[in-house]
This record gives sequence, structure tokens and C-alpha cells, in this order.
Amino acid sequence: MQTDQKAIEQRMNKIVPYRRHDAASQPSSLYEPYRATVRRAPRQPLVLLPHTLSEITGPVYGHNDITETDSDLTRQHPGEALGERIIVTGRVLDDNGRPVPRTLVEIWQANAAGRYFHDRDNHPAPLDPNFTGAGRILTDENGAYRFTTIKPGAYPWKNHDNAWRPAHIHFSLFGPAFATRLVTQMYFPGDPLFAFDPIFQSIPDERARQSLISSFDLAITRPEWALGYQFNIILRGREATPFET
Ligand SMILES: [Fe+2]
Repeated sequence: MQTDQKAIEQRMNKIVPYRRHDAASQPSSLYEPYRATVRRAPRQPLVLLPHTLSEITGPVYGHNDITETDSDLTRQHPGEALGERIIVTGRVLDDNGRPVPRTLVEIWQANAAGRYFHDRDNHPAPLDPNFTGAGRILTDENGAYRFTTIKPGAYPWKNHDNAWRPAHIHFSLFGPAFATRLVTQMYFPGDPLFAFDPIFQSIPDERARQSLISSFDLAITRPEWALGYQFNIILRGREATPFET
């Protein structure tokens, strides 16, 4: 029994935790111009959770249910989705520059008119019966993913007088472990609403803010079919980088 315990402890000692985020690269939990943060920001100092076996080795789940149309949001219904067709592609890397293969990337977004397919979105813009606005894909061996979708519209959100969100696509990634989970938003270059958006502005570091803006890439476009944007995503890497064997 004691031997088992010792073996477990030895294995635990080999666990290399994930690097903590640089605070300036993350949105402030309290940013008054973003009104919802006033209600939900923690009032007590944060407690750092140790990265133990469960945070570092999970989640483990089956990947069999993902189909081809899950990553083509324009072909999930009998008719064509309305709007400007786009390809969004990039790589998921860790902050040691290594690809994160076979990881789940999920997206959700408003339609071309800026309306979500959701009960609580009732702003006066049309729904598109051929566009749900949700997709998912697994990264390949090189950490690459690729979605075909519709460029989302800006939408009003009542945070303050005349508040509009810049066009964006929500991203969720599990990465290789719970400790690397990332939920973020991708924006489009040159959006005039950046300066007025407290969600975008709640990230203190300018470089981190810019990293959320995709880049237009003519090489990704498909002639006569779709424009192309590149968006690379960096997840936490391990604190100690093991040498390659
Ligand atoms: Fe949104």
C-alpha cells in the first residue's frame, strides 16, 4: 500500500505545470466601462489552484461525432446561408511554439445581420433559417484548423448608450488539458468599433489586444467563392520545456 502511495507521489512529482498567464494579456476582471464586470468581478483576492493530475491530464473524450459540415457553417441546412462567405483558418500553438494537435476548436457567432440564433437575442435584425452560427473541428497533426462561415455583422448590446460590438467570432478551446482551456473572441481587421468596445478595450496590453484581430490573407481566399482570414491561437505551454528526444 505504502509502495503504491510512493509510486503515485513519484508520478505526481513528474507533472510539469502549465505556465501562468501574464496578467496584462488577459481582460481585467473588473473593468467598469464593461458593465457586467461590476456585478461579477471577484470581491476577494483570487486563490491560485495548484495544477495537479486532473488539471493537467484531462479532458479525455471521444472525438467520433464530429462531421464535415460541423466546420462548414454555410452548409448545415438545406439552403445557402446568407451573407459574405469567409474562410477562417489558423494554427493552435502553445507558448513554446509547439502545435497543439487533435484539440477541439468550437466557434459560435451572429449571422450576417448581427443576430444570434438564440432566444435572448431579439434585436430587430433578421434571422437566417439556413444559418445556426455554431461550428467545431479538431486540429490536425500541425495544430491547424479551418472553418467556412459567414462574416458576422456588428450588433447592439445595451452596455451603454448606442453600444455596438465589433464583428467577432467566439472561440472555445480545450487544448491538451483543463489548465489550457481558452475562451476568446476573434475580430476582423480595420473594424471602426474597436475604440468604442469595452470588451476589446478591457485587455490592458496592446499587443494582446492586437492578437485577437485576424489578418486578411489573399492566399487563403478561394476565387469566386470566399475571402480568407488567418487567426492563430496560442495556449499556455509547460513551465519547463522538456528536451526533444
Ligand atoms: Fe458575441
